[in-house]
Amino acid sequence: MVETERRKISLTGIKPSGEPHLGNLVGAIRPALELARTGDAESRYFIADEHALTGAPAAGDVASWTRAVAATWIAAGLDPERTVFYKQSDVPETFELTWILSCVTGKGLMNRAHAYKAARDRNTAAGEEPDAGVNLGLFNYPVLMAADILVMEADLVPVGRDQLQHVEIAADVAGSFNHRYGESFRLRIPEAVVPPETTGHTLPGLDGRKMSKSYDNYIPLFLPAPKLKKLVRRIPTDSTPVEAPKDADSSAVFQILAQFAEPDVVADTRKRLEAGGVGWGELKNQLADVLEAQLAPMRDRYEELVAPGSELDAILARGAEVAREQAARELRGVRRAVGVGA
Ligand code: TRP
Repeated sequence: MVETERRKISLTGIKPSGEPHLGNLVGAIRPALELARTGDAESRYFIADEHALTGAPAAGDVASWTRAVAATWIAAGLDPERTVFYKQSDVPETFELTWILSCVTGKGLMNRAHAYKAARDRNTAAGEEPDAGVNLGLFNYPVLMAADILVMEADLVPVGRDQLQHVEIAADVAGSFNHRYGESFRLRIPEAVVPPETTGHTLPGLDGRKMSKSYDNYIPLFLPAPKLKKLVRRIPTDSTPVEAPKDADSSAVFQILAQFAEPDVVADTRKRLEAGGVGWGELKNQLADVLEAQLAPMRDRYEELVAPGSELDAILARGAEVAREQAARELRGVRRAVGVGA
């Protein structure tokens, strides 16, 4: 078969598993938006709402986190004219492909997936049955993710390090499919794009560990100013006296500031800390002001979008239309190759 030249497709999924926080903005949203703006590939970003179900959240939570996360990405600058933006649940072709792929996926491969193995290890350590509380959704998670990727013919999949294995599994599964059925139709083999270790896209949270929903140590993105200030005051600091010189880089407050303030402000703050005479309380006030200035316009846009009946629905509907057209085409090829639905 002759391949016609086409632009590469870069695709990533965002699992709506909680209220968006500062760590998500710095660690995931900004780098992905930067990639969509500057990369050569055509970008497709989607909310992986069906993936969120493996954690058995309440229905109301899935619905409201999905809307909140979608509104956050648009408020943060995602341009739906440039990036196809949709909800996983709006592309039903994905779920048929999940089944077909599961029939070319070795169970042993899934046994080795990190998330499943970690759940088993936790159970074993707690003296429970290894599979206690493990649903088949958690076990099949990587197959659904493979379907997300393969149904869109993605070439590149930008993900954090924790998702690298899943993209490798998707490539393996595509290989198995092609091996079995590839005479007349081949799935595209995707490749993960992982940010280099040194990019510093992690933020410390309210207990000094990485800011994360699982540690419950995060600062939500869209808080009213007084609440934001209150949380900033809870970021841990050491007991260096006001007049003493301070090490900027080991301070969680400074690390957060460095991601939000202008570079000259960051450099100046570093100098003032190292010179001594600036207390942690003063630094926290500065951080609260910087955050408020950066986040206030985004918060206004977010509030508009997240409201019921906003333009968000039309944005997602348009994205779904483009995504489904692509998915339907790919699924037609897959169905023909495996011999169903003729
Ligand atoms: N599993 C990813 C996460 O938890 C989200 C995701 C779902 C995804 N489907 C995807 C990422 C496809 C990239 C491509 O973060």
